[in-house]
Formats: sequence, C-alpha cells, structure tokens
Amino acid sequence: MTTYPKTSRLMNRGTDFLGCDYAILCGAMSWVSERNLVSAISNAGGFGVIACGAMTPELLDTEITETKKLTGKPFGVNLITMHPQLFELIEVCKKHEVTHIVLAGGIPPKGSVEAIKGESGDDAKVICFAPTLALAKKLLRSGADALVIEGMEAGGHIGPVSTSVLAQEILPELAADHLVFVAGGIGKGQAIAGYLEMGAAGVQLGTRFACATESIAHPDFKKAFFRASARDAIASVQVDPRLPVIPVRALKNKGTEAFTAKQIEVAGSLDREEVAMAEAQLQIEHYWAGALRRAVIDGDVEGGSLMAGQSVGMVKQEEPVADIIQTLMAESEEALTRR
Ligand SMILES: Cc1cc2nc3c(=O)[nH]c(=O)nc-3n(C[C@H](O)[C@H](O)[C@H](O)COP(=O)(O)O)c2cc1C
Repeated sequence: MTTYPKTSRLMNRGTDFLGCDYAILCGAMSWVSERNLVSAISNAGGFGVIACGAMTPELLDTEITETKKLTGKPFGVNLITMHPQLFELIEVCKKHEVTHIVLAGGIPPKGSVEAIKGESGDDAKVICFAPTLALAKKLLRSGADALVIEGMEAGGHIGPVSTSVLAQEILPELAADHLVFVAGGIGKGQAIAGYLEMGAAGVQLGTRFACATESIAHPDFKKAFFRASARDAIASVQVDPRLPVIPVRALKNKGTEAFTAKQIEVAGSLDREEVAMAEAQLQIEHYWAGALRRAVIDGDVEGGSLMAGQSVGMVKQEEPVADIIQTLMAESEEALTRR
C-alpha cells in the first residue's frame, strides 16, 4: 500500500524504468548536481543525475565513485553531446555500471547511443532531450529508451517552445507507447498530476531542487533564489544573427549584461576572422560554465550566472530533498483525489 496510490499508479512505468520510488528526476545542473545532491535525491526515492558538464573523464570517475559511497540507489549521469571526450566519458560510466545516461545538448553523435547500450543492447538506458515531435520520433528510432521534453520556462539552456505546448504536441502522439518525462516550469505537485494525466511517465525538475539543504550551492546563490519571482528569471538575448547562441534562462543581474558584452566581443572576433564559428560558439559555452561556477561555488551573485527557471518564485526556503519530494507527491495526490 503506497501513500500516494493515484500518483504512484500514473508514475508506474517511469518508476519501473528508473528503478526508484517516485518518477521525479532532478535534472542535472552543472556545479550543483554533484555527489551530495544526487545521492540525496536518490536516497529520498527520486532519481538523481550527475552533471558531467565539462568534467574530464578522471573527474567524472571520481564523482561517480564518491556518489556510490553515499547511495546504493540508482542514479544517472548527464553527458553533453558536444564534449570532445564523449566516448571516454561513456566508458567511465560503463566501468561503473551506471544504469542510465542522459544525453543533452543536441542530437547524439553517431555511435554514441550504441556505445552506451553495448553489445547486449541493454548495458545502460539512454535518455534524450526531444525539442520537437519529429526529432522525438527520430531519437526513438535511433535507440533512445526514454525522452525528456523541456519547455522554455526551465532554468539553464532552453529551447523556444513552452512546456505546455510541447506536452500537447508530443504526449498524445508518443506517451502511450514510449516513456516521456516532462520538464520546465514545474514547481508544484498539481502540475505533476496534470502532466501524468496527459500520459507523462514522470517529470524532471531542476530549479526546485537547486537550493535544497543538501545542495552545495553557495548560501548567497540560494538567497538570490528565495528572493526572486518568476519574472526575474529571464532568457538571454542573441545580439548577432550570425552567432547562434542557445538562450540561457537565469536571474537578471550584472552577469546578464556582461553576457551581452561577451557576445559583442566574440562577434567582433568573427568579423575580423580571428576565430571560426565553432570556436566562437565554444567560447560562449565556456563563458557560461565559468559564470555559473562563480555564482554556485563562489557566491558571486552579481557577476556570475544565476541559472534559474520561472518556477524560482515557488522556491521560498532551504528544505531537505526528502521534504520537497514528499510535498510534491502529496500535492499531486491531493489534486488527483479532488478530480
Ligand atoms: C542552475 C542550473 C544548471 C543547469 N545545468 C544543466 C546542465 O548542465 N545540463 C543539462 O542538461 N541541464 C541543465 N539544467 C536544466 C535542468 O537539468 C532541468 O532540466 C531544468 O532545470 C528543469 O526545469 P526547471 O528549472 O523549470 O525545473 C540546469 C538548470 C539549472 C537551474
């Protein structure tokens, strides 16, 4: 007998797939989703995901080892598809028998899904982000075991379409036969109930967990979240049409303006043919990684990047991960019971 029978029933496919009690993933957040937060999420019955970001294979090796010391429950690893050592990182995950790998940052390069699944075809599960229905179908044909659809309300790098529209476009088409997790803008269990009823196998949240007690984010980073409202979490603007910059949603601060200046600087280097397009884009991504680190680790809430989704207005105080998960489940259950 579970405490949340209606929600658990709708999450059943998701929990079977993830091997946890609640089909609530904590989306990987660079610098935030390390051993402490990841193990806390998994220990509380959710599904933690290590953010590999720009880590070297050696660093990822250590992070997985340390996470395993803190939890015996399953957790995933998020790898960025354009990482130059993607295949080495996959090998590290395989060495540790990581059960689920989330591929973020675009279409997985040739051979990567096969490498993860191995000769058995089932070494580990692959979860991919699907930005459109057409790409969702393509990713499933290419071997993805599950999909995350993430709307532009989310924190961090975002696409152009809202979660509610993606959910309406993709869930009715695919959710009956495939596992689809919904992310972006979820702050309360009532929203979880809604997406589950639409066919989602579960949900992924980032912003709501970033300031949990177990998160190592700097106290000033957390304070900035507690003070912010939805309208403070804004998407970055692209200043040069030739320089396609993936928008990032973060709390508005001096760092937001510095990013505009950075883009103008990089566009100037492109004009003067000092850098090629790929290098220009890489410089932009490195800028974000550095700025996020300054905010999360050093507490530079003025000059760093405070990546946050619009649900930040629903984050009011530091709470243990287990309490957040129980609140979300109770809210969802209450909503479903009221139906
Ligand atoms: C501070 C922060 C850092 C993030 N870093 C990453 C990342 O490194 N890789 C990734 O795939 N997603 C990243 N995300 C997105 C989250 O994994 C998650 O999908 C998103 O936060 C869900 O939307 P929400 O913020 O509305 O809950 C980040 C989000 C935040 C808030």
